[in-house]
Amino acid sequence: MSGSEWTCRLSSMHEWESPYYEPSLPVSEKSNPLTRDIDRASSGCIVRMLQACDSQMFLEEAGATYQRLMSDEVVETLMEVAKKVELILKDPRDSLVVLSGCGTSGRLAFLVTSAFNRALKELNQSPVYSYIIAGGDKALFSSQEAPEDDPKLGMLSLKEVCEGKKRVFFVGISCGLSAPFVAGQLDLCLQNPEVYTPVLVGFNPTHQARDEPIPGCSFTFRSVVQRMEELAKSKKAFLINPAVGPEAISGSSRMKGGSATKILLEVVLYAAHAAAFTHTPITQQGILQHMRAYEKTLEIPCAHNEGMAALLEAAGKSLQRGRRVCYLGWGALGVLGLIDASECVPTFGADYEDVRGFISGGYNELKNNEGPLGPDFRISHEDFLHLVLPSLDDHDMVLLIYTQTDDVGDVEKLARRVREKTSNLHAVYHRVDGDTAATVQQDDINKLCLSSLRITWPSPASGLLQMQWELCTKLFLNALSTGAHVLKGKIYQNHMMDLQVTNSKLYCRATRLLQKLSGCPESKCEEALLKAVYKVDNVTVEITSSDISTHTHTARTRTKVVPLALVCLLTGCSLAEAELRLEQQPIVRDAVEACLS
Ligand code: F6P
Repeated sequence: MSGSEWTCRLSSMHEWESPYYEPSLPVSEKSNPLTRDIDRASSGCIVRMLQACDSQMFLEEAGATYQRLMSDEVVETLMEVAKKVELILKDPRDSLVVLSGCGTSGRLAFLVTSAFNRALKELNQSPVYSYIIAGGDKALFSSQEAPEDDPKLGMLSLKEVCEGKKRVFFVGISCGLSAPFVAGQLDLCLQNPEVYTPVLVGFNPTHQARDEPIPGCSFTFRSVVQRMEELAKSKKAFLINPAVGPEAISGSSRMKGGSATKILLEVVLYAAHAAAFTHTPITQQGILQHMRAYEKTLEIPCAHNEGMAALLEAAGKSLQRGRRVCYLGWGALGVLGLIDASECVPTFGADYEDVRGFISGGYNELKNNEGPLGPDFRISHEDFLHLVLPSLDDHDMVLLIYTQTDDVGDVEKLARRVREKTSNLHAVYHRVDGDTAATVQQDDINKLCLSSLRITWPSPASGLLQMQWELCTKLFLNALSTGAHVLKGKIYQNHMMDLQVTNSKLYCRATRLLQKLSGCPESKCEEALLKAVYKVDNVTVEITSSDISTHTHTARTRTKVVPLALVCLLTGCSLAEAELRLEQQPIVRDAVEACLS
């Protein structure tokens, strides 16, 4: 890269921090200058852009506008929070640590609580962690956006989980400091300080917390945050809210928001466990060391750029042809596959069948609160073999995701079955340098696969390795599914055009996007959005006088709402004409560009 390219790249790395850059938006909703042209990029370039965005998570603090993951203040708070958890681990009677969030934030709450409860079990200790996800367990693998708007539901679900407990350490996760569901839970904690100690995890500075009124409530997310800031002075509440930069696809907090959530929660709980069970004191150095291990993890995908670009290309081709991408995973990497696949539906307006994940052992492996979730949520490898494999051919891509500690014999068996139907079989697996176990089987799997990404980690393995494997896999899968949908033409510049307008945050985001792309005033954009939501050419008083929840409820069954509204705005045509245009040009990006030109 030339000197001037570097200067240019470095300035884009920080451009979002300028007070003049999209000043009305919180960091989590800004568009990332690094990915402005991602919709026109090659697969190799997409991979590099996404990596550059991820690396913003660990930008240095010096001279920065916002605090960072490794800022002194953040590390200090992480230590204090870890000490609180340590106390509960040492005396768990009548106590609970609850992690809660909506969408990806709730999914990561599930993943992290599962891992640390497992660690407790291995030490013959009872579980102390519980998770809550807005919309219940089906939200682990499908988009349930409406419950995110419901603060009472949040509060009630927290009360239910904590019934009979005398001491609750509550961690509410909302990347955008925005979800009313989490605000309701934090409010409950603030009202009952004798039982609850609240922690908020998110990635905006507190003054950017959402301040829109929440129907039926006297508080907003921001007012809750302000109350917490007061209590934080006496360490009765904690705020962990470094900035990690705007998402590669604007507002897609499943990416950096999710990764940073995983990093922060694991750093805290790992330190607490080490203190409680191996007498390792919680120190700033220990926390920073763990953070640096994650920072190093980010370098791993960079060493596999070519292989990643090829996989992204293969996945993009399958999606362009209307075919499938299937992840077959083992253990926690399998859960990450399930999560990544399910997020494609709300993030890219994908069909449920486009990208699907399956996990070895199905619900037995998962051990989720509600157990098996019924026929709409089939997740085991057996389900894959019976329901999906028979219809696959070379146009469908299958990806095996595992580590050398998984049952490699089982991986090989499944690879052989898949290979009978499609040659488009690939693998991503993690191994420790010098570990020769199952080498023969591994070689056989490689021969069955069109491509294999072998990620080798330095030996000896540290206690953090499993967490690093998981983060690396998350980054990798997020890049794969995002890149494949970019190649399919689902993204315009770095915005998801075809977003579902199924809660108030998404409704506001949609209106803003229409304003940005059409240049029309807010009122006109909202009117166009409502036309598309209600399928009418004239918005009646009855519609305009309804509240946002009625609009978002109606939008649940609608498709292409934002693209339709935009075509209407740009051309002045009727809804029926806009529908026709989009039918003729199903690639949303091209349809929009045709109107713009
Ligand atoms: O409503 C959709 C969504 O944006 C999800 O994609 C996201 O995971 C969820 O909301 C939660 O967002 P936050 O963590 O900012 O509350």
